[in-house]
Amino acid sequence: MERRNFSMDEVVSYCNQYGFIFQGSEIYGGLANTWDYGPLGTRLKNQVKDAWRYYFIQMRENSYEVDADILMNPRVWEASGHLAGFSDPLLDCKECKTRHRADNLIQDYDQSVNADAMSQEEMITFIRDNHVPCPACGKSNFTDIRQFNLMFETKRGVTDDSSSRIFLRPENAQGEYVNYLNVMRSMRAKLPFSIGQIGKAFRNEITPKNFTFRTIEFEQMEFQTFCKEGSDSELYQYFKEYGLEFFESLGLPLEKLRFHDHDKLAHYAKEACDIEYQFPFGWGEINGTHNRTNFDLTRHQQYSGKSMEYFDETIKEKYIPYIIESTYGLDRIVLALLFEGLHEEQISDTDSRIVFNIKPALAPIKINILPLIKKKHAEKARELYAMLAKYCMVQYEESGSIGKRYRRGDAIGIPYAITVDDATLEQETVTIRDRDTMDQCVIPISGLVPFLEEKSLI
Ligand code: GAP
Repeated sequence: MERRNFSMDEVVSYCNQYGFIFQGSEIYGGLANTWDYGPLGTRLKNQVKDAWRYYFIQMRENSYEVDADILMNPRVWEASGHLAGFSDPLLDCKECKTRHRADNLIQDYDQSVNADAMSQEEMITFIRDNHVPCPACGKSNFTDIRQFNLMFETKRGVTDDSSSRIFLRPENAQGEYVNYLNVMRSMRAKLPFSIGQIGKAFRNEITPKNFTFRTIEFEQMEFQTFCKEGSDSELYQYFKEYGLEFFESLGLPLEKLRFHDHDKLAHYAKEACDIEYQFPFGWGEINGTHNRTNFDLTRHQQYSGKSMEYFDETIKEKYIPYIIESTYGLDRIVLALLFEGLHEEQISDTDSRIVFNIKPALAPIKINILPLIKKKHAEKARELYAMLAKYCMVQYEESGSIGKRYRRGDAIGIPYAITVDDATLEQETVTIRDRDTMDQCVIPISGLVPFLEEKSLI
């Protein structure tokens, strides 16, 4: 069977049509680069979160989840270095006044160049020597590069002065770091142990692009492992590989994933590597693993005056732990799953269908319950709905021909459809149709829950 992947435009329009992702504040004409997850997108996101929790919290000893506030004491961002050093190199087009990231301009102009490794001077020289064009107007007449801080600023309280200035967090990590002592004390944790968190982060990205790939507000799943210096590099390698394993478990194929070791390191990192997925618009980072050394905890000790030392009973010594961070961009993973799973499949010379080949465990809805004839079979079908909804997300659909209802279920990735027909009324059996193969089989109603278990749907 011939299968065709979706383009970016098709994915955006699919997401809108089927309730995965809508434009933010749509009825007001939207707000640039904000996106709202609809019912199915929210379900998909939650399934990915559940998979992450299973992989990173449940299956790992000494792993603890926290849910810290987005707003933090502004001193946190002084200590972390974000106020001083979390910036992008920006320049303006003097002709059309649009603003761009210098590294993106270079990378889009010449994929073979590694703009990541260039200094500010090297970037502007490259842009001028090659007459790199402005993506908006096509001319090449730019200002010098300036560093633009990505922190998203807001105000609190009744006064309007600098003391009311606070920030929306640009990364979850600091919520884990400022709670390191609390978690260690309350959970009686010993090194190595990990703190994970799922939550929103905000960055004043000046050039958001590619749908949900680069947005101002996004969600991260971050995992920080506190360890003794000396064990850090081994753990760093371990978490790089663990990231690949996790992505494979979600159904992203290894051949479309690669490591990208960083030449230019963030202000906190000793070693850093991304896992990139091959999107239709190019390779894009969906995870980062960083050896943050004891940079963050040392700085928090300096700025807060609280000791961040750990007493190691095995060697009777105190030290500030190192941190290996593995961070996952939830929105980017959802986008990768959409690109990976969405296909138009040619069934015959004249017939095709849209199918979302997502792993059943991640499918937003697991079972589609369809009465063959509404008047005759609806009551029994609703009984089955009530029975199965106790176990997993089930959809009931009675309008339209059975073929059309199968197709709509395929398009939103429902792995199995259950058809209720005369045999259900007479013999207590149902027909189950498989989304991917379109094969059908008949099983007794009493076998439905074991079937869900066998297929890992519950
Ligand atoms: N705590 C480390 C940290 O925040 P990062 O590489 O800047 O590291 C982590 O971000 C992950 O967050 C990235 O791998 C990416 O998946 C996601 N991410 C970063 N910026 C994003 C943005 N503007 N929009 C969507 N996702 C983003």
